[in-house]
Amino acid sequence: MVEFTLPENSKIGTGKTVTAASNSLKKKIFKIYRWDPDSGENPRMDTFEIDLNNCGPMVLDALLHIKNDLDPTLTLRRSCREGICGSCAMNIDGRNTLACTKAIADVDGEVKVYPLPHMAVVKDLVPDLTHFYAQYASIKPWMQTESPTPPEDEERLQSKEDRAKLDGLYECILCACCSTSCPSYWWNSDRYLGPAALLQAYRWIADSRDEATGERLEELEDPFKLYRCHTIMNCTDTCPKGLNPAKAIAEIKKLQVMKGT
Ligand code: SF4
Ligand code: SF4
Ligand code: FES
Repeated sequence: MVEFTLPENSKIGTGKTVTAASNSLKKKIFKIYRWDPDSGENPRMDTFEIDLNNCGPMVLDALLHIKNDLDPTLTLRRSCREGICGSCAMNIDGRNTLACTKAIADVDGEVKVYPLPHMAVVKDLVPDLTHFYAQYASIKPWMQTESPTPPEDEERLQSKEDRAKLDGLYECILCACCSTSCPSYWWNSDRYLGPAALLQAYRWIADSRDEATGERLEELEDPFKLYRCHTIMNCTDTCPKGLNPAKAIAEIKKLQVMKGT
């Protein structure tokens, strides 16, 4: 049997332990992935025992309590703290999700926090999303039209039925939870666009006002960009916004078949 081991400099060591000072009975242990590229050291898991009376109910609240009061070097992204910006996506308790909408109470035992999997790490819980965003840009996420622009006081109109076709697509916040949970994306992210970019591509294909549907489908007709999806469904299972990228990908594949008939 083949045995895979991590390279020496990727092995995760045991870091420091910080214990809560108070005698509170409301304590919780957080184990957090740490890696500082400037230190030259291996990644490590730091342990923080925190008093839940000192923070709000979400995992992000606990991380900010740790950063503000226990260890200011902890590095993470966040902005809206209400599930809208997508920047606090990370792996919590073995699942990709948003730290600001994940309740601490929903995690039994220790809360283990890692950056999104299979991405290069910038520092601690911050993944490098450069390639992910470049893939998003590659699907041209804006309306393309050929017909004359309506006069200034008019709009490109859409029926209620056509507008409803965008439900389940426009809500995507590009958090990358789905793409980084997809095994096909782990192994082929250099060429496979992944569920987030493909859901976004379908959002424009499905928009009745867009006039570049043919070009968009042509662009995706590629053994790697689209067809690396093997319907494993991790993406849909993990999406913190309850969206279904696997269905969007299936719709694109269906349109590709119809295009060829
Ligand atoms: S489909 Fe869901 S998981 Fe994927 S990027 Fe959009 S919001 Fe995040
Ligand atoms: S359904 Fe497709 S995109 Fe979603 S996890 Fe599976 S292979 Fe990846
Ligand atoms: S901080 Fe914006 S989604 Fe969590």
